[in-house]
Amino acid sequence: MKHFVPSIAIDRLPAPVFAELAQRIGAVKAAGHDVITLGQGTPDQTTPVHILDALKEAIDDSTNLQYPPFRGHDFLKQAVADFYQKEFGVSVDPASEVAILLGSKAGIVALPQTIVNPGEGVIVPDPGYPDYLSGAALAGAYPITLPLLAENAFLPDYNLLDTKDVERARMLFLNYPSNPTGATATAEAFEQTVAFADANDICVVHDLAYGGISFDGPTRSFLQTEGAKNVGIELFSLSKRFNMSGFRIAFAIGNPSVIASIETYQEHLYVSAFTPIQHAAAVALSSDQTCVRELSALYETRRDALFGQLKEIGWEGPVPGGSFFVWLPVASGFTSQSFTDHLLDEAHVAVTPGHFFGEYGEGYVRISLIADAERLVEAVQRIGQLHLFSQTVAE
Ligand SMILES: Cc1ncc(COP(=O)(O)O)c(C=O)c1O
Repeated sequence: MKHFVPSIAIDRLPAPVFAELAQRIGAVKAAGHDVITLGQGTPDQTTPVHILDALKEAIDDSTNLQYPPFRGHDFLKQAVADFYQKEFGVSVDPASEVAILLGSKAGIVALPQTIVNPGEGVIVPDPGYPDYLSGAALAGAYPITLPLLAENAFLPDYNLLDTKDVERARMLFLNYPSNPTGATATAEAFEQTVAFADANDICVVHDLAYGGISFDGPTRSFLQTEGAKNVGIELFSLSKRFNMSGFRIAFAIGNPSVIASIETYQEHLYVSAFTPIQHAAAVALSSDQTCVRELSALYETRRDALFGQLKEIGWEGPVPGGSFFVWLPVASGFTSQSFTDHLLDEAHVAVTPGHFFGEYGEGYVRISLIADAERLVEAVQRIGQLHLFSQTVAE
């Protein structure tokens, strides 16, 4: 059998570390252990019934089973524009400022190719969602690390960037509420981002994957910031907000020149999302948002239960203001990897090591609030039995 060597672009893609971790967790489960899996990012709740009903109804109309329009349906773009107005007070033109994506992951990985040329720079938050690097790699772009530090509440400090890197940069990814840190953006952080991007002609891509899952007030849209549309776009996903991760639907909203490039790119790659899914998405956006508030409250309850028990075992860390992730420092004497291995082998608790999210993630692990409060508490109790932290409160 001939062996065809992967292209340079494929070779540049980051190693599939998450798949390897999943395999390791699978092996511990196969050995008969009851593993509490807190490493994943897939919501455990179901899609609200009114959205599922819209999908089912749309499937029964055979015209909806044909090719959708190349750039997606106007009714959905209008629903996005209406939603942004109602939810964030932001006005967008549905025709020129909204693109339909097959999930925000598809948008993230495509975006550098639509704006950035080989050798130019893409600034990626560190720790951050690894696919920003995948997008940069496929574009042949040069990744520039933007350190997100605990002392800055994991918000960007553009002074940490090298001037030469800034000159080279064409795109900047940001993500609040953050995966993995759980940090939420301040108005000031977004204002500084607009000023920085404007001064340096950098296109901002704000990834709002966890919109609606906020515990310290409503989620802030980047587009609420004055001048934001001038310098970039926001990616808005339905995966987490409505438990629609399998639907593969999200939007890019904002600067019309960026939207036009995405539309052109996508026209060559896809024929938009399945029409019934576009109907379901429109219903999700235009319906009452109580289901989102309830979902956010559920994650908040889980967060509080987890932190109650963390306190008992003396494990301290920043309390997340949004997303469904908790970012915790490892116990002393461990690396992210050795701590993750230790928890899996000795407590049968699966977490994600921080260095999967970049070099500034070293020294942390990420816990997902994707389990019942009882299970989260049990996980921390099991870890407590390993006596890794000074249990000043409990003893
Ligand atoms: C920060 C971030 N962005 C984007 C995504 C991808 O979301 P989607 O389902 O819209 O592709 C995820 C998924 O976990 C995420 O954590």
